[in-house]
Amino acid sequence: MSSAPTVVAVCGSLREESYTRTALRYTLRAAEEAGAETTLLDLREYDLPVFDPDVDDQGDGEEARRIVREADAVVLGTPVYHGSYSGALKNFHDYCSFDEYEDTTVGLLATAGGGSYGSTLDHLRITVRGVHGWILPHQVGIRKAYDAFADDPDAIDGRRFVDPDLEDRVEKLGRQLAEYAFIEPDGTTPRATAADD
Ligand SMILES: Cc1cc2nc3c(=O)[nH]c(=O)nc-3n(C[C@H](O)[C@H](O)[C@H](O)COP(=O)(O)O)c2cc1C
Repeated sequence: MSSAPTVVAVCGSLREESYTRTALRYTLRAAEEAGAETTLLDLREYDLPVFDPDVDDQGDGEEARRIVREADAVVLGTPVYHGSYSGALKNFHDYCSFDEYEDTTVGLLATAGGGSYGSTLDHLRITVRGVHGWILPHQVGIRKAYDAFADDPDAIDGRRFVDPDLEDRVEKLGRQLAEYAFIEPDGTTPRATAADD
């Protein structure tokens, strides 16, 4: 592969002390260590009014869309809100469509205050599949987020993961985003060829 893959993380929490944003920064660091160029698309920094299909140029919509469209891989991170993903991320997602996600590798990460994040990751998986993103099977859920990190001035955002296995899962997501950023299954893989024999 001649050029470095570009990996973009979209943070669906607007909270200043967001655990989702911290986890995404760990994901991006692992992607960088695997050779990617990375960008954090922090929705707090973008003017994205509630999406209105009747309005052509809404706020920073085109700029946010461009960043996703030009990415080779995207990781969507969200807090668990009411068993699903955040309204901020849904609104951002409504700005995007096939042009942004077709042929894009997508990773998913959800952060819960309570114990479950499964429905949140499932909802994200369904909506990204709807715009033809290539979603990695590996995904990350963080439960009881307020207990998942410990203060550490030397760590990203001044927080380290308490559970090294969870940190491994977060970093594996970053590595896989870099590794599979250029995936282009085209029906001519050895397995497909063998099936035709
Ligand atoms: C509107 C709202 C709804 C929430 N719904 C849930 C929920 O259904 N399940 C849960 O475990 N936590 C829920 N939480 C807690 C968040 O998932 C938790 O605070 C998480 O850490 C937020 O992510 P952040 O730190 O990235 O902002 C909710 C929080 C808010 C503000």
